[in-house]
Amino acid sequence: MSVAKKQYKRITTKSLVEMKANGEKISMLTAYDYTMAKIVDGAGIDVILVGDSASNVMAGHETTLPITLNEMIYHASSVVRAVERSLVVVDLPFGSYQSDPKEALRSAIRIMKESGGHSIKVEGGKEIKESIKRILNAGIPVMGHLGLTPQSIYKFGTYTVRAKEEEEAEKLLEDALMLERLGCFALVLEKVPAALAERVAKSITIPVIGIGAGGGVDGQVLVTHDMLGMTHEFNPRFLRRYLDLYSEMTTAFKSYITDVKNKDFPSEKEQY
Ligand code: KIV
Repeated sequence: MSVAKKQYKRITTKSLVEMKANGEKISMLTAYDYTMAKIVDGAGIDVILVGDSASNVMAGHETTLPITLNEMIYHASSVVRAVERSLVVVDLPFGSYQSDPKEALRSAIRIMKESGGHSIKVEGGKEIKESIKRILNAGIPVMGHLGLTPQSIYKFGTYTVRAKEEEEAEKLLEDALMLERLGCFALVLEKVPAALAERVAKSITIPVIGIGAGGGVDGQVLVTHDMLGMTHEFNPRFLRRYLDLYSEMTTAFKSYITDVKNKDFPSEKEQY
């Protein structure tokens, strides 16, 4: 059943701002490959994030830091080939935009040219202001990401909730206002208190998409593999699992193994 208020043939950055203005919540999920992107897009998701969480989910790294620009382009181009309606946002990976604005722009251009993605996402506020300005000046839409920014995990030391203290909360709000002023089209807020996230969402006109940021924001994002229950080790409070695919897939794999061992597969009908 569709709950969208207005039918969009193709989601653009403008559609998202319009959804916020109309009080329609924005849905966003990750995808890193063609097959998953095809299903997610076909289901009617508004935004597909080719997240650098691919570093954890696809490659098995402990953090998002190791994934490279080339690997992000590979994932993003696979996703873009599948998508008909969703807006595709691609993460700029760690090390591809923090050192200087020119390098940030070169990285963003590579993503847009080589993957066909529709926009990029970067983590951070005023520290990366010049890079964001330069990317936006080139006509590339930018989504911000504040709160828990996993590319800075070694600075934080933990994945716990951010901005619980007044000082950090005020800086986060200032950064959000700055991102809006610069011209970012949306903002991800990760793992911050719900009251702060709602305050940020009410203070800016661009959409705020939350993960572990409560219901007072303009949309929600989850990592698809987590919400499908393909992972069992990751159990944050904010995660709602819509399936237990880990168990279902294990059952299917076991049945296949048994069928092969027992010579039940292939049957007469399954051969030429
Ligand atoms: O990389 C990612 O999947 C993300 C989401 C958690 C927002 O940045």
